[in-house]
Amino acid sequence: MSELLIRNTTPADVPHLVALQRSVYPTIAAWTEERVLHQLGVFPQGQAVACYGDRIVGCASSLVIRWDEWSTDHSWSEITANGSFDNHDPSGRTLYGAEVFVDPRLRGQRVGHRLYEARRALCRRMNLKRIIACGRLPGYHRHAGAMSLETYAKKIVWGDLTDPVLSFQLKEGFSYCGVIENYIPEDAESLGHASLIVWLNPRYDPNRPTIAFGPGEKM
Ligand SMILES: CC(C)(COP(=O)(O)OP(=O)(O)OC[C@H]1O[C@@H](n2cnc3c(N)ncnc32)[C@H](O)[C@@H]1OP(=O)(O)O)[C@@H](O)C(=O)NCCC(=O)NCCS
Repeated sequence: MSELLIRNTTPADVPHLVALQRSVYPTIAAWTEERVLHQLGVFPQGQAVACYGDRIVGCASSLVIRWDEWSTDHSWSEITANGSFDNHDPSGRTLYGAEVFVDPRLRGQRVGHRLYEARRALCRRMNLKRIIACGRLPGYHRHAGAMSLETYAKKIVWGDLTDPVLSFQLKEGFSYCGVIENYIPEDAESLGHASLIVWLNPRYDPNRPTIAFGPGEKM
């Protein structure tokens, strides 16, 4: 097999990316191709795929926001302008992780790590203060009868339980900041909920502006 490559998404990747996303989520509707093409138009450097040769095996999608404009309570649809990323604001200081997924056949092989590494590199490259994301909690439906959402999330942080997404994000150096209810209502595994997480860029310089990309420049 060829080497794993993380690169910006191209229009030619879009049908493969959408097909992969459809296979990843049992209850959440996949993006349309038009929607992903629109995201590429809004912030091309924020859209990344992982691939082995021609085969797309993962994706990470981000936009820049002014975090202060969003209360801690927001839904995925609200903070991504319904997946269009039209609220992407190049003067913001926060990279918002809108999506990450890996081909189910290749989980646990550090593809997600490489996508997160690329996201951290983008954050440093743009002199952004942090990465914020809301992570699904797909293991919660198995424990919802026994404990609250918050207790479940804390048990992941404490190491008493593992969750397929939050455990991964903690391993990637993110800090848990609390739970967000009704983040993706149609996410049956997470009962619609999510955890709020943050990674602070250690190299962030508040005296320098956010560094924008030139036309056609890649991540
Ligand atoms: C979350 C996801 C992207 C992780 O991708 P992945 O390629 O399997 O993760 P990696 O192999 O890169 O794992 C990186 C680290 O996290 C750990 N990790 C990954 N999944 C884990 C799990 N289920 N439980 C505990 N730790 C886990 C790995 O052990 C690894 O640790 P290491 O640094 O000690 O080796 C993947 O499971 C996925 O696509 N999930 C479905 C889509 C989804 O829900 N995305 C989240 C949207 S908010």
